[in-house]
Amino acid sequence: MADVWPGGIVSYSVKTNSLPWVVAWMEPAGVWAEVVSDDEYELATALGHTPERIVFNGPVKSRAALARAIDGGSLINLDSQRELRWATELAAERPAGSVKVGVRVNWNVDAECPGATASGPDGLRFGFHVEGGDLTEALQYLAAGGVEVVGLHLHVTSLSRGIDVYRSAARTAVGVIRDHALRLDYLDIGGGFFGGDNPDFPTPTQYLTAIRDVLVDAVDPAVTRLIIEPGAALIAVPVDFHTSVIDAKQVQDHVIVVTDGSRTNLDTFFRKTGYAHDLITAGEPTATPQVISGFTCLDNDRLMTLVDAPRLREGDQVIYLRVGSYTMAFNPLFINYLPAVYARRDDGRLQLVRRRWTAADYLAGNDWSLS
Ligand SMILES: Cc1ncc(COP(=O)(O)O)c(C=O)c1O
Repeated sequence: MADVWPGGIVSYSVKTNSLPWVVAWMEPAGVWAEVVSDDEYELATALGHTPERIVFNGPVKSRAALARAIDGGSLINLDSQRELRWATELAAERPAGSVKVGVRVNWNVDAECPGATASGPDGLRFGFHVEGGDLTEALQYLAAGGVEVVGLHLHVTSLSRGIDVYRSAARTAVGVIRDHALRLDYLDIGGGFFGGDNPDFPTPTQYLTAIRDVLVDAVDPAVTRLIIEPGAALIAVPVDFHTSVIDAKQVQDHVIVVTDGSRTNLDTFFRKTGYAHDLITAGEPTATPQVISGFTCLDNDRLMTLVDAPRLREGDQVIYLRVGSYTMAFNPLFINYLPAVYARRDDGRLQLVRRRWTAADYLAGNDWSLS
């Protein structure tokens, strides 16, 4: 980041994997926290992120959390009408010039990058719409209410994670900055980047250079900090999921391999059909298809079908690779509670960073008395 945009900020998207050890790891590594709820804000501060190194996004902040974040010096991107109202109310209660915010921008990205987003021509769901005039109204409302707009936020996770969407975001930001004569402290271009070292994907430098090349006419890097909010790019690759075979049995022309992992651990939306994986087994290769299945009672808890793979038996292992994003944070408390997590430290040691949840953890905070 510093090579392309000195003073730029990397802010970890906590929702992507909010395992406490991961969120805590980021702070001393120089990575801020990007949060989208009061709970995530509280989590980040509890794990060592100081308020002034937190980016607070999303449309569901409470008024109290918004006030705390303003007073703590967090970077706040407003994303709903009630937040606009609350910001002006809070400004009226504070010394002039002390309430500074950013605003999330909704633009017609599909017009510039057809098919790049899941929502397509229906448009994005978040932020104040540029083309429809909502953004202009929001900026005017905040100015009239004594709130200074010092940031813009443009995030979209595109289907392709390609560079064109970032160019579109940067062009939109340039238009807004010029139309409204904004002098920004920061420009937050969101997350949605590829991570890892796959040569088919853009590198961090390619993404950032493309963004800078569009912004440079309207934004002075010495004045305005560029923020990125990667989630998957930071946490997908370093996480593996280790499972063991419980049973293997022939059903018609295939073998059902029951494991102590589940699709609910890795594929909350039940859409995936394959994973990068390793097998730990002494089995001989078999032409019989093996359906790797989960521990739950759902019949479609079938993770993938292996063909011409070693025949798996009780005690063998299936290890799913690069599965750290939108998996652990989505893990339901369904039948089995949360699995144990280990961190591999620099010296190779494995540290238990979350023990397996038991019924006692599930019961915490409950009151099951009947009187
Ligand atoms: C506002 C915001 N920032 C950052 C991210 C992180 O996206 P990714 O994990 O694709 O980098 C998301 C994910 O949806 C998001 O909504």
